[in-house]
Amino acid sequence: MKRISGFLFLLFLVACQPSKQLSLAGQINPYQYSITKKQISKNGAVVSAHPLASEVGVMIMKAGGNAVDAAIATQLALAVVYPGAGNLGGGGFMVARLSSGEFVSLDYREVAPSAAHRDMYLDSAGNVIPGKSINGHLSCGVPGTVAGLFESARYARLPFKKLIQPAIELAEKGFVITEREANALNAIQKDLKAYNTVPNAFLKPTGWKAGDTLVQTDLAKTLKRIRDKGRDGFYRGETARLIVEEMQRGGGIMSLADLESYTAKWRQPQVFSYKGYTIIGMGMPSSGGTLLNQMMKMVENRPLASFGFLSPDAIQLMVEVERRAFADRAEYMGDADHVQVPAWLTDETYLRNRMRDYVPGVAGNSQHIKAGVLHESEQTTHLSVIDNEGNAVAVTTTLNNSYGSKTVVGGAGFLLNDEMDDFSARPGVPNMYGALGGEANAIAPGKRMLSAMTPTVVLKDNQPFLVVGTPGGTTIPTSVFQTLINIIEFGMTTEDAVYQPKFHHQWMPDRIDVERSFPQSTRDALKQMGYKIAERSSIGRTEVIKVLPNGSFEAVADNRGDDAAAGW
Ligand code: DON
Repeated sequence: MKRISGFLFLLFLVACQPSKQLSLAGQINPYQYSITKKQISKNGAVVSAHPLASEVGVMIMKAGGNAVDAAIATQLALAVVYPGAGNLGGGGFMVARLSSGEFVSLDYREVAPSAAHRDMYLDSAGNVIPGKSINGHLSCGVPGTVAGLFESARYARLPFKKLIQPAIELAEKGFVITEREANALNAIQKDLKAYNTVPNAFLKPTGWKAGDTLVQTDLAKTLKRIRDKGRDGFYRGETARLIVEEMQRGGGIMSLADLESYTAKWRQPQVFSYKGYTIIGMGMPSSGGTLLNQMMKMVENRPLASFGFLSPDAIQLMVEVERRAFADRAEYMGDADHVQVPAWLTDETYLRNRMRDYVPGVAGNSQHIKAGVLHESEQTTHLSVIDNEGNAVAVTTTLNNSYGSKTVVGGAGFLLNDEMDDFSARPGVPNMYGALGGEANAIAPGKRMLSAMTPTVVLKDNQPFLVVGTPGGTTIPTSVFQTLINIIEFGMTTEDAVYQPKFHHQWMPDRIDVERSFPQSTRDALKQMGYKIAERSSIGRTEVIKVLPNGSFEAVADNRGDDAAAGW
């Protein structure tokens, strides 16, 4: 077991008050902790974006909870210790293989408020007003997370009150922040001033530093209302009133009726096979599972492994399948409750034909390679959880970009999402991830905006084998695709599969984005083929749990963040 110590988490010991419900005291110390990147365990494992949240998940399993209990408690803890993406004011998706053998997927994506309309981010000349869908009150979709947590609790074992208690304590008593969190909070101080109507816990004029304690009193009160009143503690009463008052003070449009009527929905998961593995992914309104299905199927019958990891030929093949999948996304994908998403997008014959114009050694061109037709007739967060009963749970949840809209609900202490930017504000105009969308993803009241989140469970011989996912906007499906290919085709260790350089092509803009560590020789060879290459900041924070041949769980957290593995 390799343990990598974190930053400066020393000597912040503060007496913790004992509590009746699963207190942190004695089990988790929020004032002194370290970051474990890899953990092997027998009974259960959690990988998430923050060590305290991963530890909370494991603590819940030790107390008799299953992987669903742990996933709920971990998300609630992330809403406190990882405010940039963990959330009450956002939404997400859960994909799970349950101990009964059943596959389920839950959609708790935000929806457009009932007063939203397709041109709400355009000026009188019809141009997109920069930033309006990204920051502040008008960028917020109706949050889905709390509804999702209560809905997923149908498969949990412990009372919800127990699952939320660690989050309440972390908010009330505070926790020590990492250097990365301090830097991230400092970077949004100006936005926090610009997009808020009342002071909040994240504001600090003197600046945050590693080792500071973040106490969130208002958030603790909101969590207690949820503990005491269930989902009504968020969607009705005091919390709903605070959200709507915040909207009214800041020019937003979310109403009490929007909150009351929000519903999380069980969806048919996107299930497909790849060389004998069964892959369970998320369907609409996330494009993630469909894109993963398309990309995996487009490479399945090609000798990818023989090309070698990071070889120009392997990258070219993967880039060309990414290009084609993303072209289809821009044209066809959106909330299937509102638009018809063609089922043939994952048809094997269609996908084979889709690669007909792929020429090895020559770059494709997005001006020519558009969405297919059937010729026949940077902040989200992912957690992976597993238990020894056969439950494997993948959850990706988000406020959209880091700290969402930057708007904290006054008196309620949580950030609201800026998920409205995931709609196409105007067909053909890229969103903040540079992604194009069309009619299928136009804004409409009550409609869910298209996502790229790709929580994924892979089975081998019908038993859990991998639990995978990542943040990263449109790079999410490509990161999951590459992680699966690294493990299944290139036979990599889990750590290599996660840590090795990633790359991304999303049809438009027509270029390959690569991480800094992407080898120069491969960049040169790809340029020779005619590709444009752009270096970018790190891609994703992939969290993987792999079931080893002896049945143990190998949990690996990405080294691109404070992400941490825990197990027991
Ligand atoms: O749902 C989506 O696809 C985006 N809102 C995800 C945003 C994201 O991953 C940002 N994180 N880096």
